[in-house]
Amino acid sequence: MADNMAKRPIRIALGVSDENVWNDRFAAALDEKRSAGYPLNYDRVNLNRRDWLERLTPYDAVIWKPYGMGVQQSILVKEKVYVLEKHLHKLVIPNVESTWHFESKVAQSYLFSIEGVPTPATTATFDYDEALEELRRATFPLVFKRGEGAGSGNVWLVKSRRTAEQLWAKAFCSQIYRDMTSRGHGRFSIAARSLCKRWFWEYFRQHFRRGDSPGYLYWQEFVANNSADLRIAVIGDRYAYGFWRNNRPDDFRASGSGRIDFERPIPEECVRFCMGISRRLNFDSMAYDLLFKDGKFVIGEISYGYVDSVPYRAAGHYELRPDETIEFVPGHVWPETLWVEWALQRWEGRREDAIAK
Ligand SMILES: Nc1ncnc2c1ncn2[C@@H]1O[C@H](COP(=O)(O)OP(=O)(O)O)[C@@H](O)[C@H]1O
Ligand SMILES: [Mg+2]
Repeated sequence: MADNMAKRPIRIALGVSDENVWNDRFAAALDEKRSAGYPLNYDRVNLNRRDWLERLTPYDAVIWKPYGMGVQQSILVKEKVYVLEKHLHKLVIPNVESTWHFESKVAQSYLFSIEGVPTPATTATFDYDEALEELRRATFPLVFKRGEGAGSGNVWLVKSRRTAEQLWAKAFCSQIYRDMTSRGHGRFSIAARSLCKRWFWEYFRQHFRRGDSPGYLYWQEFVANNSADLRIAVIGDRYAYGFWRNNRPDDFRASGSGRIDFERPIPEECVRFCMGISRRLNFDSMAYDLLFKDGKFVIGEISYGYVDSVPYRAAGHYELRPDETIEFVPGHVWPETLWVEWALQRWEGRREDAIAK
């Protein structure tokens, strides 16, 4: 096995997904590596077909940029990444570590807390009593978020306790109803006890729409005085792009504004810190959204996927050198090129491990 791996070219499956621009640019980067003498073969493989697992049998590695937006789509992607990596032992870019928390700010909050990543003070709770107690004690405004979403679509500034309690009722009404049922209350008993409660009417409304309340609330302290957020997009543990995203007019939210600022300087400590997290957590791709609180950065959220044309437009990218210095490399480079570079570096690491065994 070790010998075999050492001698033959790597066989890469380029996972065909909806984001064909990424695929074409992955292919261009792979063509370039092969022309420069790197021993590799690749094919485009349709991962949507029912026989996708058999089709992947001959390959060592899968590189893809799945569409995967939205909870449902992203779950389907995560399942595939998991099976490929944990059961078929393929090299998958992006890996499980990069993808398992995608479209879930709640999941990210676990990682941030365990790893001591600086963030705005964050509450993610599935306990409706705790949530209500906390909200009654809280100082407003607070930033409420759904776990999923992009472009600031599910992010709101909540200025009053009253609005927060409305969100609480929407978030937990099904759970409260179920709990009352499990304590032996019938429909009429619940109605009689709860007619004057906001959650009950929310339940009524959601029930008629055949909905179910999310069962959690997520909020963060409001980090004031940020007219932009800083995005650091790291590839592997050694390549990065940095740019600022200005807020929408008269709004606290930057994500999705399209108001990109490539001119404003990027603090090197932010690039280094994000590369460090990516190394520690074994991320293949991670975009970090940074805000600043009392002069120090905090990370609002992370995601492995992004629109490739924005980093491409940056004046250059950063590279971590073996002596741990960070060099700014001028010129426009597609992130796909760096994903491919990183994938091949991971392959080489794997091959060295196999030879050593
Ligand atoms: N805790 C916060 N305090 C102040 N502004 C925030 C906070 N969290 C997010 N924002 C702003 O809202 C935007 C969207 O939030 P984010 O969590 O990144 O959601 P999305 O997944 O939609 O990008 C951010 O780009 C930032 O400008
Ligand atoms: Mg964001």
